[in-house]
Amino acid sequence: MELASTDRPYRLGILLSGRGSNFAAIAESIRTGRLKGVEIAVVVSNVAEAGGLARARELGLPTAVFVSKGRKRAEHDADVIACLREHQVDLVCLAGYMRLLSQEFVAAFPHRILNIHPALLPAFPGLEAQQQAFDYGVKVAGCTVHFVDEHLDHGVIVLQRAIPVEETDDAHSLAERILDEEHLAYSEAIALVASGEYEIRGRRFVKRNR
Ligand code: GAR
Repeated sequence: MELASTDRPYRLGILLSGRGSNFAAIAESIRTGRLKGVEIAVVVSNVAEAGGLARARELGLPTAVFVSKGRKRAEHDADVIACLREHQVDLVCLAGYMRLLSQEFVAAFPHRILNIHPALLPAFPGLEAQQQAFDYGVKVAGCTVHFVDEHLDHGVIVLQRAIPVEETDDAHSLAERILDEEHLAYSEAIALVASGEYEIRGRRFVKRNR
C-alpha cells in the first residue's frame, strides 16, 4: 500500500476506549511498511485505563487522555478536537472508541473520520454486533470501515471484508475471526483514504483509476 508522495507523512489521530487491537494492527502495518507514508500523530482515549493507551506508550507514541465520564459531550469533544488539531491530524481513526461524537466533532473533520464496525453495515449497528449477527443466524459476517457522520454506524462505506459463518462457530469464535479481518481492513481503508484517489458519489466511495 503506497501513497502519493507528499511533503510530510499523512498524520493519524487514533481514538480508543479499550484494548486497542485495531490500533496495534495499524501501528504494525506502519512499522512493517505495509502502510507507507503514514504516521500516528497521537493516540487519544476517554478511558484512562484503556489497554490501547498503555500499548501506545510502550511504542513511544504521543498519548492524551480526556476522561469523558460525567462531562458534557460538547465540552469533552472540544478538548479532543483541540488536541487533534494541535497534533496536526489529517485523519481521525476511531478504533473501539465507544462514544458517540457530537455534531461539532463530525463537522470539524468533514470526511476525515473513519470508524470500524464488526458487522456488515447496515446490518447490526450498535453494540455487540457480532453477537447480534450470530443470534440472527447470518451465513456471512464481517466488518465495515466507514466515514463517520452524525448518525450511528451510518456514514459512507470505504470497504468491507466478509467471512462465512461456520457450523462450528459460536459468537466468540465468530468475533475472533471478524477481528482478524478488522485488522486487515483498517490499514487498507486508511491507505485508500490517505491516497486521496477516490470520490464520494452520494453514498458511494469510488476509487479513481490511476
Ligand atoms: C472492535 O471489534 C471494533 O470493531 C468494535 O470494538 C472493538 C474494539 O476492539 N467497535 C465497535 O463496535 C464500534 N461500533 P479493539 O479495542 O481491540 O480494537
